[in-house]
Amino acid sequence: MLDKVIIREYKNSDELNWLDVHASVMVDSYAWWIVIHKKPTYKKEVVDLVAVIEDKIIGFITIEINSDIIDIVKGDYGFVWEFGVHRNYRGNGIGKRLINKAHEIMNDRYGINKSIWYSQDEKAQRYYEKLGMREIERHWQFSVYPTEAQKKLFEKDKFNCWAMRGSCNIEDFEEVKQKFRVIEEDDALKPRICIGYEYIL
Ligand SMILES: CC(C)(COP(=O)(O)OP(=O)(O)OC[C@H]1O[C@@H](n2cnc3c(N)ncnc32)[C@H](O)[C@@H]1OP(=O)(O)O)[C@@H](O)C(=O)NCCC(=O)NCCS
Repeated sequence: MLDKVIIREYKNSDELNWLDVHASVMVDSYAWWIVIHKKPTYKKEVVDLVAVIEDKIIGFITIEINSDIIDIVKGDYGFVWEFGVHRNYRGNGIGKRLINKAHEIMNDRYGINKSIWYSQDEKAQRYYEKLGMREIERHWQFSVYPTEAQKKLFEKDKFNCWAMRGSCNIEDFEEVKQKFRVIEEDDALKPRICIGYEYIL
């Protein structure tokens, strides 16, 4: 059955099926902390692939070429925004096939052999390390409730702030926790270490 899996480019008519499998993948990965209801679009060109079995999408990868979301990487690269395989099909090499095919297209179209990956999900981090990706950076990601003083400051500008999300250097987290009310009790929002990787293929 798995020899029927094909990797092909995403097309607009895939959107609802893509969102279905994306939502399913989000259930058991902490890489995402918000639900998406539309397929995101990007400023730059993308390599956008899906893994399909009998017309059903079971995996996806979306890479934006030279995304300006980061500025720490020298030279050209693809930034990986989305990557997942439905849990019923994992461990069959489909993730690796998506990565290989995306790299092949990046190479052919743009002459690029480097992809950049970020994840705050520990299982995904182990996967990236198993594939031989090189860590380039790590930071804390978390959400905070505004303090009473911060609330008042925002209210002056008509903004009623419930919560805010952001990041900090690993070594600054204790200091940040002194000044902000970090949300610890919400499973989706609680602080996690996000690791950035570089993959050259
Ligand atoms: C990460 C993910 C896409 C991998 O897909 P997959 O199709 O199961 O991966 P593959 O079958 O191609 O695995 C390739 C190799 O990695 C290994 N592997 C798979 N998951 C692993 C993990 N969590 N940790 C370490 N190694 C892992 C496989 O055993 C395989 O090794 P082998 O080549 O020696 O047999 C999938 O687990 C997933 O969708 N996870 C949830 C979503 C997610 O967190 N995405 C990352 C967003 S940043």
